[in-house]
Amino acid sequence: MSNKFITIEGLDGAGKTTVVYRITKYLNKCGIVNVVTTREPGGTPVADLLRVLIKYGGPINDPIDSISELLMIYTARFQLIKNVIKPALSKGYWVIGDRYDLSSQAYQGGGRGVDMLLLHALSNKVTSILYPDLIFYLDISPELSISRIKNRIMLDCFEQESLIFFARVRSCYKKLASEKKNVIMIDASQSLEKVSAIIYRYLDWWLIRSRRKL
Ligand SMILES: Nc1ncnc2c1ncn2[C@@H]1O[C@H](COP(=O)(O)OP(=O)(O)OP(=O)(O)O)[C@@H](O)[C@H]1O
Ligand SMILES: [Mg+2]
Repeated sequence: MSNKFITIEGLDGAGKTTVVYRITKYLNKCGIVNVVTTREPGGTPVADLLRVLIKYGGPINDPIDSISELLMIYTARFQLIKNVIKPALSKGYWVIGDRYDLSSQAYQGGGRGVDMLLLHALSNKVTSILYPDLIFYLDISPELSISRIKNRIMLDCFEQESLIFFARVRSCYKKLASEKKNVIMIDASQSLEKVSAIIYRYLDWWLIRSRRKL
């Protein structure tokens, strides 16, 4: 295990992108400069093409089916793992992921209600190749999620979903957070300063632990 693959999960507007940036800066301050950040879906030329379809849908006469959406998300993730994350980890770099596999389980499984057999097969394949060493799940209510994203100029397919959809996604996330390993659940309705302070404390502990293992 690398001990260097950290992912951030949570509803839209939970603060993932903000936290990825802060974690990178914090690691830099601790003398760790080789940090690669990823954002899903996307992150390779193929994955970025798929990102547009996943987030903004297909043409009106060819709407994207939920299974097609799931398969595209996993195609993008496999490309990202194979061509970006694994090579970075093998060079000894840290990788901080803005979303990873729990997102698919929460959004496509919990939110969309896709075929769980197919979802689990894909998820098991991905996580057997690479499971995060640390997952920060930023927990917020659907109401707070919507209020944090409502001023965006253009909302994607997920951001246009209803409160009920986000409630299903959140409840699935919370269940996963209690069942899966390496997940730290953080109340992200707190101020950004408080959320960051909690994360920095974990990172300090994590760095000490990783250095002891060297
Ligand atoms: N703890 C917080 N308290 C208040 N505002 C926050 C907090 N965390 C993030 N924000 C603000 O909420 C907005 C959404 O944050 P951010 O873009 O980081 O969320 P995200 O989880 O990456 O969203 P998305 O899934 O849509 O990409 C930003 O304006 C950010 O500054
Ligand atoms: Mg973001």
